[in-house]
Amino acid sequence: MPIDMAVVPVAGRGTRLLPMTKSQPKEMLPVGRKPVVQYVVEELSRCGLGRLLFVTGPGKTAIENHFDIDLELITNLRETGREELLEELAFERQDLEYFYTRQRRQLGLGHAVLCAKPVVGREPFVVALGDSIIGINAESKVVRVMVEQFESSGADVVIAFEQVPRDEVVHYGIAKPRQKADIFDLDDLIEKPDVAEAPSTLAVAARYVFSPLIFDYLEKTEPGKGGEIQLTDAIRAMIHEGHKALGVCLPAGERRFDIGNFESYFQSFTEFALADPDYGPALQEFLVDWLAKHGTNRAEKYR
Ligand code: UTP
Repeated sequence: MPIDMAVVPVAGRGTRLLPMTKSQPKEMLPVGRKPVVQYVVEELSRCGLGRLLFVTGPGKTAIENHFDIDLELITNLRETGREELLEELAFERQDLEYFYTRQRRQLGLGHAVLCAKPVVGREPFVVALGDSIIGINAESKVVRVMVEQFESSGADVVIAFEQVPRDEVVHYGIAKPRQKADIFDLDDLIEKPDVAEAPSTLAVAARYVFSPLIFDYLEKTEPGKGGEIQLTDAIRAMIHEGHKALGVCLPAGERRFDIGNFESYFQSFTEFALADPDYGPALQEFLVDWLAKHGTNRAEKYR
């Protein structure tokens, strides 16, 4: 049976984005015109996934509300002659089934994935982090490629990777690839290695395909720093016990937009706003003028 289920963990606290995330989910932050998680859902739908399971937690009901069909709003737009805005709600009518489960304690990404087990059962599935967009406007088809590789190779894990500058490997899970290729056998994953010890500059990029074996490994994974169960630890244990893992590189021109920290969030918002067909050109003009007038060290003034 082809893979049809995607798990979207959205239960994290988003502490790196406080105070913005005190009472709103980071997955609902706007990037350009849409909230992050809407891009994730649209990407998964385009890649052929039909069932989406959100792993939610405290303060995340805005996500569930966002994907409901809002008949009152639709009627209001019709009655007030603003039919053109109905197009903005077309995503509500995507042919998808939504499921929700709770991570009752925020014990890390690995634990969030394990919370999906009673719903997913013993079938393979995709994991797509709810705070990361792949490709500008989420146009990436990398998940489709990953699913095809999973189905044809007999691997138990397929992971998306993106090239990062060497001095940034310290922030990511980094691949130890067996071959230098766009699709490669993954010999190991090194979490946040020192620059000198990094086996490559390929960083984990927020998308995975797993066989249900991952649940067995997550159940055996000891909590690490902060009592969290790390997904990377379970993946490493699988690889070390001889299970096949593949890496798939994001195609040239595609990258992961990580909405987990301010630097990356500000950059992502700016890039998406610049790419907006209606407002991008004027924003670009504004930025060019602004920089010419004020120079590039404006932030210094406010330090
Ligand atoms: P992060 O690793 O960025 O963790 O989550 P976080 O807890 O949300 O953020 P900080 O570190 O406090 O700022 C990556 C993805 O995994 C989910 C998050 O919601 C996010 O989409 N996640 C993380 C969970 O679902 N549960 C967790 O316990 C941790």
